[in-house]
Formats: sequence, structure tokens, C-alpha cells
Amino acid sequence: MGTLLRGRHFITTQDFTKEEIDLMLETSFDLKRKFARDELTPWLLYKTVFMIFYDESTRTRNSIEAGITQLGGHAHYLVPEMMQAHHGETPADTAKVLSRFGHAIAVRHCAFGQGNKFLRDLAANSNVPVLNLQDDVYHPMQVLADLMTIQERFGKNLKGLKVGISWAYAESHLKPLSVPQSQILLFARYGMDITLAYPEGFDLMPDIVKQAKLNAEAGEGKLTITHNMDEAFKDADVVIPKSWGGFYTIPNPLEADKYKDKIWAEAAKHKDWICDEKRMSLTKKHSVYMHALPADRGKEVVDSVIDGPHSIVWDEAENRLHTAKAVMALTMGGRP
Ligand code: CP
Repeated sequence: MGTLLRGRHFITTQDFTKEEIDLMLETSFDLKRKFARDELTPWLLYKTVFMIFYDESTRTRNSIEAGITQLGGHAHYLVPEMMQAHHGETPADTAKVLSRFGHAIAVRHCAFGQGNKFLRDLAANSNVPVLNLQDDVYHPMQVLADLMTIQERFGKNLKGLKVGISWAYAESHLKPLSVPQSQILLFARYGMDITLAYPEGFDLMPDIVKQAKLNAEAGEGKLTITHNMDEAFKDADVVIPKSWGGFYTIPNPLEADKYKDKIWAEAAKHKDWICDEKRMSLTKKHSVYMHALPADRGKEVVDSVIDGPHSIVWDEAENRLHTAKAVMALTMGGRP
């Protein structure tokens, strides 16, 4: 098993072998236990991570910032409006400078068609790891926490576990595709039996779906696509209903900014795509409800489900801390 993750960029879980992801998970469990026992973990003493946020965040920013502090290092919180990027400094020049000052550059940039490209440009010009805090394609920090949370409930062997990933209605903002995309990619590698449900037109990126199917083949998992929300819930062990922007309801997804009204109008046709008690009753008795958060209460999910006995959203959110620490510890530190 390869254990040399030091210096590697963390942009998508696809860039890592399953053994390397297992190492990240085992390190997360180890850090979680140490945190519970109030044991010090000064694994990244005096190291600096620069966090650049193009978009809002509660869990991601604070898990990285608290996480690096708990590992003995420090985070700088940066927003583009306060950087020379605002005057047009390129990602390449930004990466060259920041990578001379510190030990990782962590970025959230979810603009459709721009975010992942920005991260790749940074990575190509950075001597230190670039950590993806969510872009338009991937949210690897989230999916690692999701997988850890599922393992806590269902054990390490997840082959055949029935997981329903569904679009749900929301009004807060056009949520990126990156969470469900990262989930279908990674869960398929662990052999899960995934049903992906969404209204017609609310497709995920075709290349990602194609890759997820290949992952499922290799991991002895399954990926079924349906346009019926109930099918994702039927006999499911895990349900993850969450909104995402309908970028493919317009002819050119890259013009999403221009056609936001049309995308919202399409979404408004599907207000019945909500996770409620009736839908939860279709799942297995022991099923769990998950959501990356923030959830649109009363739109994506009713209060009685997210606050109810099936919900494990607070464990899922907590695990963002432990998985973020593991990723930083292994990529910014780890063995030389
Ligand atoms: N799930 C997640 O990424 O949460 P934030 O947007 O609050 O970081």
C-alpha cells in the first residue's frame, strides 16, 4: 500500500487509489479518537495553509481553520476582493507567491465552468499541495466525510449498500453539482448500489457519470439513474436528497449566469421533490438521512426528518473536521 501523500494536490478523490483513500479515512478515525481524548496532535507545527474563498462557507472554512490550529499550524483566510486577483493577478502568479510563503493553498471556487480550471491552474504552478474546498465539479473534503460517516454506521465493507442520491427542490441558491458528483464517483468505488434520481434536465456532468459507471464496474458497485424520487428511497439504507443547479436545463451550461431565471423556473416545476416522512417510510427501517448542509428546510427536507431519528447530519458535519485534518496531515506533512 502506498503511503506517500506528502506534497500531493487534493482536487478530486479520483487522483488517489482506494488504498490511499483508506489511509485518509483511517487517519480521520485516529484523529477523531485523539480529539475525543483531548490528546494533542501537533503534526503540522508552525505550518501555514492559505484559504481562498470565492464563495460562502460555514463547515469548510471552520473545519480547515480549526483543524490546522489543532494540528499546530495556522490558516490565513483570504477573499479574492482583498487580493490582487481582484485586479487580475493570475492564478499562476498567485500560486507561485503563496507556495513560497506557506505549506498549502486551499480554495473554494464554485463558479460553473471556472472553479476546477482555477484550481488546476493553481496546482500547475504551486510547489505546495492545492486542496480543493469545493469547486464546480468536485467536493472531495465533503465526500470523504460522507464516506467516514457511512462507515461509522455500516462498517468498512459497504458492498451492496443501497444508497439513494436525489435532487431536491431548494430556493436559497443554485447549489453546485460537486457534492452528488463526488458521491457517485467515490461510493461506486466502494461497491455501493447507488440510485441517482433527478427531474429530467437536471443532469450531472456526462463525463462524471461515465467515470462513475466505470468506477462501479471496477468496484463491483452499481449506478442506476431514474427520474422518480421515490425510486431512490425504495429500500434504501442511506438517502442523500439535496438540491443542485439545473445547469443542463439550458442549452449551454456555461451561460448559467445569464439564464438563472430560466433555471429557477425549471426548478419551480419540481417543488414536490422534498424529503418528507412519506418518502422516508419507503426506506429500510434502519436507514439514515444525510445532507452536506446547509439544507433548505421546508424545501429540500421537512424538519421532522432532518431533526428526526434517521438523521445523521450532525455526525456528517462533525466528520468534516476530522477528515480535513487527515487530508492536511497527510498532504502537508506525512512521511518524507
Ligand atoms: N457542506 C459544506 O461544504 O458546507 P459549507 O458550504 O458551509 O462549507
